Amino acid sequence: MLLRAIYSAGVLMLLLPAVTHANESNKLLNMCKACHGESGMSRFEHIPNIGWQNSDYLLKQLRAFKAGTRQDPTMTKVAQLLSEADMQQMAEYFYLGKDK
Ligand code: HEC
Repeated sequence: MLLRAIYSAGVLMLLLPAVTHANESNKLLNMCKACHGESGMSRFEHIPNIGWQNSDYLLKQLRAFKAGTRQDPTMTKVAQLLSEADMQQMAEYFYLGKDK
């Protein structure tokens, strides 16, 4: 559990310089993709697949991370960066499994 938290924080630190060069609207989504995979199919065994999951479910989880009713060392921090509009866009993106 502790190791996983350290690993997740490390991945997040590595990703930040890479995403700061992307434009504002893609920046957050690129960060999600780096962990959860281009179409939501994760390459890391401790990170869940979120591609093709129902958008309602994804949106509910993102709201819960942001509100603190669901806790995770990584996602709780990530969700603080997201507006309601960002969360809706991301839930839709991963549900559809492709760029619109
Ligand atoms: C540093 C890696 C990392 C980044 C970046 C990241 N996630 Fe996650 N995400 C995780 C991990 C790890 C979990 C599993 C959390 C848990 O065990 O509760 C998770 C869980 C989730 C879940 C819940 C999945 C489920 O089945 O309940 C959603 C939805 C999600 N992430 C969406 C996103 C979105 C959208 C972004 C971009 C704004 C994002 N994540 C960025 C690592 C990451």
